[in-house]
Amino acid sequence: MTKIKKINNKTINEAVELLQKGKLIGFPTETVYGLGADATNQKAILKIYKNKQRPKSNPLIVHTETIEQACSIGVFNSKIEKIAKDIWPGPLTVIVKKRENSIIRKELCAGNDTIAIRVSSNKTILAIIKKLGNPIAAPSANKSGMLSPTSAAHVEKQFKNNTDIPLILDGGKTKIGVESTVIGMKKNNIIIYRHGGVTKEKLEKKVNEKIIDVTNADFSEKSNISPGMLKKHYSPTVPLRINITNPRSDEILIGFGEKYKEPNLSKSGDLDEAAANLFYFLEKYEAKGNKIAIVPIPNIGIGVAINDRLNRAVQ
Ligand code: TXA
Ligand code: MG
Repeated sequence: MTKIKKINNKTINEAVELLQKGKLIGFPTETVYGLGADATNQKAILKIYKNKQRPKSNPLIVHTETIEQACSIGVFNSKIEKIAKDIWPGPLTVIVKKRENSIIRKELCAGNDTIAIRVSSNKTILAIIKKLGNPIAAPSANKSGMLSPTSAAHVEKQFKNNTDIPLILDGGKTKIGVESTVIGMKKNNIIIYRHGGVTKEKLEKKVNEKIIDVTNADFSEKSNISPGMLKKHYSPTVPLRINITNPRSDEILIGFGEKYKEPNLSKSGDLDEAAANLFYFLEKYEAKGNKIAIVPIPNIGIGVAINDRLNRAVQ
């Protein structure tokens, strides 16, 4: 049976014990909720693929506690190390070459010689990794292709009564609400594979160079590089239309900015607030069985990540 529990020392210890036994846990990060396994335990990693119904060709993100621990499993060149040092702990995932003979199980990388690593700023997951002593494999805690969860209840809804996932730690609604930004390197260039919690402009300012955006590259071309960037993804199970100002009579309109009434992603037109509400609202109206229409969202700052998710949701 899956149980949602409030976060305290006792439940953190319980989470560590479950991970040691090869079980999975649901937990919050500042972006979305993750579904975690001990990254050194092969059976536990396979449980993630099984429960998410995720193709075994789609590698998982590994969460470490520190950049030093990240460097013990991946090879960081100076550019990536500089960005990671600037942004971590935070909503950034870097794809680097996997270190030979590392403690990480190879199934997690799905046959690639690269590994995706992230240091989250969420204190709970950092404490769990520290107590466990091992990195934690953790993709978003949703079934493949579905909405990423921004609350413990949403994780539970997707994995009801699941003996592989006995515990979901409840850290409330996540702050950022869209997944981490994923970057990597090709030749000497920095590539962005997924828009997310930290904007491309912010990263470009940090490194003082242009970052190459392949987030909309053709799937067949990209599938070898970052298999999870599917055209259709992050979808609610109810009909969704985007860039709509005049909804049909059977649709609920989700607004943005002061001229729209509730539900509204951000009355004040704040894109950070809108990102934090995006999956949360979609989940809420999906649960009610509503057909959803959503107004245009400015394609700037974190609005780029919002539009990316919406465009994939309607494919
Ligand atoms: O915010 C987040 O990143 C959340 C939280 C829980 O950390 N995690 C998350 O994981 O969104 P996931 O698995 O849903 O998305 C990870 C993305 C996938 O698109 C996957 O294909 C890509 O990163 N990825 C993972 N390892 C990779 C690798 N070695 N090379 C290329 N892409 C990789
Ligand atoms: Mg995901």
